[in-house]
Amino acid sequence: MSKEFDLGTLLAERGAERYELHAKYLNHQLPKMLHTIGFDKVYERAEGAHFWDADGNDHLDMLAGFGVMGLGRHHPVVRKALHDVLDASLADLTRFDCQPLPGLLAERLLAHSPHLDRVFFGNSGTEAVETALKFARYATGRPRVLYCAHAFHGLTTGSLSVNGEDGFREGFAPLLPDTAVPLGDLGVLAKELKKGDVAALIVEPIQGKGVHEAPPGYLRGAQELLHKHKALLIADEVQTGLGRTGDFYAYQHEDGVEPDLVCVAKALSGGYVPVSATLGKDWIFKKVYSSMDRVLVHSASFGSNAQAMAAGLAVLSVMEDEQVVANSRAMGGLLKSRLAALVDRYELLADVRGRGLMVGIEFGRPKSLKLRSRWTMLQAARKGLFAQMVVVPLLQKHRILTQVSGDHLEVIKLIPPLVIDEGDVDRFVEAFTAVMDDAHSGSGLMWDFSKTLVKQAVANR
Ligand SMILES: Cc1ncc(COP(=O)(O)O)c(C=O)c1O
Repeated sequence: MSKEFDLGTLLAERGAERYELHAKYLNHQLPKMLHTIGFDKVYERAEGAHFWDADGNDHLDMLAGFGVMGLGRHHPVVRKALHDVLDASLADLTRFDCQPLPGLLAERLLAHSPHLDRVFFGNSGTEAVETALKFARYATGRPRVLYCAHAFHGLTTGSLSVNGEDGFREGFAPLLPDTAVPLGDLGVLAKELKKGDVAALIVEPIQGKGVHEAPPGYLRGAQELLHKHKALLIADEVQTGLGRTGDFYAYQHEDGVEPDLVCVAKALSGGYVPVSATLGKDWIFKKVYSSMDRVLVHSASFGSNAQAMAAGLAVLSVMEDEQVVANSRAMGGLLKSRLAALVDRYELLADVRGRGLMVGIEFGRPKSLKLRSRWTMLQAARKGLFAQMVVVPLLQKHRILTQVSGDHLEVIKLIPPLVIDEGDVDRFVEAFTAVMDDAHSGSGLMWDFSKTLVKQAVANR
């Protein structure tokens, strides 16, 4: 007879093996990297924008699980919705009926972009992008997709074709016919469109890599050009959507922008159930699903599952009830202005940018001779090491989790849960100030640690 499965017992008995298990069976480079930078911690509990280690130390999360924890961890309303949907024992995923939750979630999502009509639900950000690329190519009958330099749209083969970072693409060719255009350059876009084979331009209104925003007028100008040439505008709001940048969608910062397709994922999950949504215009969906024979021409086995739909509905409801978008705008404004005020104080600090709770902090070459020689040594080993030097003490000394915003970038990106409060902003700014003081003192542990990073970088070449 089989023993009854008990998750608590399993974790109690084998939870301590977490790093060894990962090293043995999963991507072995992750534990290796975590051991190298001293991030190999054991976290036991989480709530909102905070999590706690085994000794009960509180950590502030400025990463939100790469953005999926828009509402923070374990929001009680989302949690209750998931308990409820499990307890309801629905006849879900029969695949030959129509369940109510997908229609209700689609209706609620579409209310935030009234110019769009229909939704396809999938399971992850990259699937939202794959869907948009397929729909755009089918609807226009053209093969080529344009994307912006430095873009990130996911890592499956289609979305990789519109990835602006060589490091991700190398070794995976051939990809889709694709061409990179500079973010903000309408002239280059027009030139590509004249060739007549372009299905769409896919764009993050604020790029996750480096936190670069499309310049004012670009999205609207691009939309006009695309439509003139019968091509489509795809807004990838996987990271920027659902309030991250202080509006429901980042494309809404500019009047008159009405993308033909919008990709959503991450935060819609409530941090629990992977889900994606590709929103689009009626005519595009009607073309893809043009006959009954084509009813399954684009589908996903787990798409529209009840848990994901319940989580999404709960997330959208909380966003309204708790004015999450307004909080993102207010806390983001506060965080950005307090950090921007430090730019004149610290020569290593070059720029603070972003919108809402998507903030980029860029470091740059210092003026003073002593700091400059250290900076140059780091740059010679590998670009991005100084930003890593800041991320490490932020966690180790101040218990704040952040990330470097992409390979070889001297930029830290802050994307905390949208529910952070003024106390969290104070805590981050104080910790960051202390780390900057340390860096500018030119001595101490921080620069000692840089030697470890340099050694590692050289060994990895
Ligand atoms: C803008 C953007 N698009 C797509 C993706 C891919 O999402 P996923 O990791 O869920 O596949 C990401 C992930 O970071 C993203 O930031």
